[in-house]
Amino acid sequence: MYRQGRPSGRGEELGLCHKRRREGHAHGTPPPWATPFRRFSSSTMNRSDFAPLGFGVGLRRPHYVHILEQHPPMDWFEVISENFMVEGGRPLEVLEGVRAHYPVVMHGVSLSIGSSDPLNRAYLDTLRAAARRFEPAWVSDHLCWTGVCGHNLHDLLPLPYTEEAVRHVAGRIRQVQDILERTILIENVSSYMAFRSSRLEEWEFLTAVAEEADCAILLDINNIFVSAFNHRFDPLRYVDAVPVERVVQFHLAGHSDHGSYLLDTHDHPIRAEVWALYEHAVRRFGRVPTLIEWDDNIPDFEVLAAAAAEARRRCDLALDSKRLHAAE
Ligand SMILES: [Fe+2]
Repeated sequence: MYRQGRPSGRGEELGLCHKRRREGHAHGTPPPWATPFRRFSSSTMNRSDFAPLGFGVGLRRPHYVHILEQHPPMDWFEVISENFMVEGGRPLEVLEGVRAHYPVVMHGVSLSIGSSDPLNRAYLDTLRAAARRFEPAWVSDHLCWTGVCGHNLHDLLPLPYTEEAVRHVAGRIRQVQDILERTILIENVSSYMAFRSSRLEEWEFLTAVAEEADCAILLDINNIFVSAFNHRFDPLRYVDAVPVERVVQFHLAGHSDHGSYLLDTHDHPIRAEVWALYEHAVRRFGRVPTLIEWDDNIPDFEVLAAAAAEARRRCDLALDSKRLHAAE
């Protein structure tokens, strides 16, 4: 599935120029931001190469004993990569026990793919070793930066949506994929501010990065909803613009409503509006492996399992309604 980046020979350029709308320019005259960039690798990512895992939940510490001892029904678990990038001890025993009974995927929070710091080779070597040991169905991280000048800010910070940033991030993703020897998934983050220098919509930026890097997308439906509210855009425009063939996983989570803004807290049940957006996404992207994230005020495992079951039910309903409409 994964191949090293190489010139495509087709001279393809990403057609971003015609999509620009934030700055007016004379018809037919390329605006200053519109310097085209070249795609360095032909598209090798194939969605069908990723396992159809079904509906899972995040593996969280309060549930370790229950899962290890009871083996509750669950299609798959997503683990925070950094929690298991260690030499030995209890974390590795836990993951080995879980992995013996379930598929897992590794989801990182420290790749800092958007940073201007050099890639952390020691981190990547450790991640590669962990991936070889636990054989996750895939490895993912976020389209963001988490620190600079060696300082970790412990937050998933948004990037300026510019073509310069597309080239910067895509080049780094290609390096990561070369080191890990696998196609990775990048996830859209929620945000609460925007850069004046942005020249692309967020969904254009996400798409351009994924196309340029030839990587897959982890589409967080809640993050789209949160950012759409905070930045006053239509979340359906976002979902409808992301390329179907690159979306390999969905995230669903709860957020906090602070009146004038939404906060991506992962500490609430999934809200009705996010479920509705999920159903819309299912009708567009199909039965994409779906993961329930819950990171604070973590409830009993049964509550998470019920949310995963609800995702399955809504996915089935959305696909049934799509089939009905197609048959009419
Ligand atoms: Fe997420």
